[in-house]
Amino acid sequence: MKAFFAICLALYIGFCAAQTTPPACPAAGITQISTCYAAYFKNLNFTSTPPFMTYVQAIDKLIIQGVSSFKTMCTWSTTRQTCIGMYDPMCATGAAFQQALGVSTKNEAYEYLSAYGTNNWECGPGYSDVVANFYCLENVGLNHKSDILTCYSAYNASIQQNGFSCSALATYTTCYANVYKKYCGAIGGYIGCSLVKAGALEDVPYCADQLPICSKNFEAHKLFGMRHKLAAKRLAQKNHNNGDASKIH
Ligand SMILES: *[C@@H]1O[C@H](CO)[C@@H](O)[C@H](O)[C@H]1NC(C)=O
Ligand SMILES: *[C@@H]1O[C@H](CO)[C@@H](O)[C@H](O)[C@H]1NC(C)=O
Repeated sequence: MKAFFAICLALYIGFCAAQTTPPACPAAGITQISTCYAAYFKNLNFTSTPPFMTYVQAIDKLIIQGVSSFKTMCTWSTTRQTCIGMYDPMCATGAAFQQALGVSTKNEAYEYLSAYGTNNWECGPGYSDVVANFYCLENVGLNHKSDILTCYSAYNASIQQNGFSCSALATYTTCYANVYKKYCGAIGGYIGCSLVKAGALEDVPYCADQLPICSKNFEAHKLFGMRHKLAAKRLAQKNHNNGDASKIH
């Protein structure tokens, strides 16, 4: 599910690349990020930076094996984050990533950068929630891709017509979160919202105030809040059962 998300996010980056802040990353930071990523890619058996889509496929293939593979991926991700250390945020920019990873386009650098942000969230602050809801989230990625694509198509159409805007990204974030909320309850909405935000804010930090607040009580304040909560509880129970079933085979 994470990887599929990365693809979606990747597609709009080119539209907003021009608005990023100027790079202020020292040469030592570029070298450090290069080193940290080389070690990270080695875990996936890549000897140099793969094309972003190849990387996404490798992560997909790994994570589809289940929550323990996700946990393994997170050990690699947190090692990478620790390795980058103080160079984030200074060097967490498209320009620095492009140089450090040796990718040919700015667009690909932004794809890697947003994936970095997403990984840092799902393997950091979001870790326990993602692990606890792993099989429900995975199910959305595997069996409800069309719901996500509907959000993405609307987002793409809006950007094609009007150019990138933080408000288009906000609408996409809400749409994406609602898909996860539909299948995984309020916690799903919170996770979906956080995944998009964590990735996007690496690329477009200036959108921070305009994106929705990711809450575990996603829309719980609304008129049917109580009913939503009950439905979420049922879904959570269902997820729990499905999760057990997936672990058996
Ligand atoms: C990398 O290669 C090793 C040795 O062939 C293999 O055991 C491992 O599963 C591979 N890792 C990935 C993520 O493909
Ligand atoms: C985005 O919209 C444009 C214009 O409608 C279309 O050509 C392109 O294929 C769309 N991209 C995606 C990934 O849907």
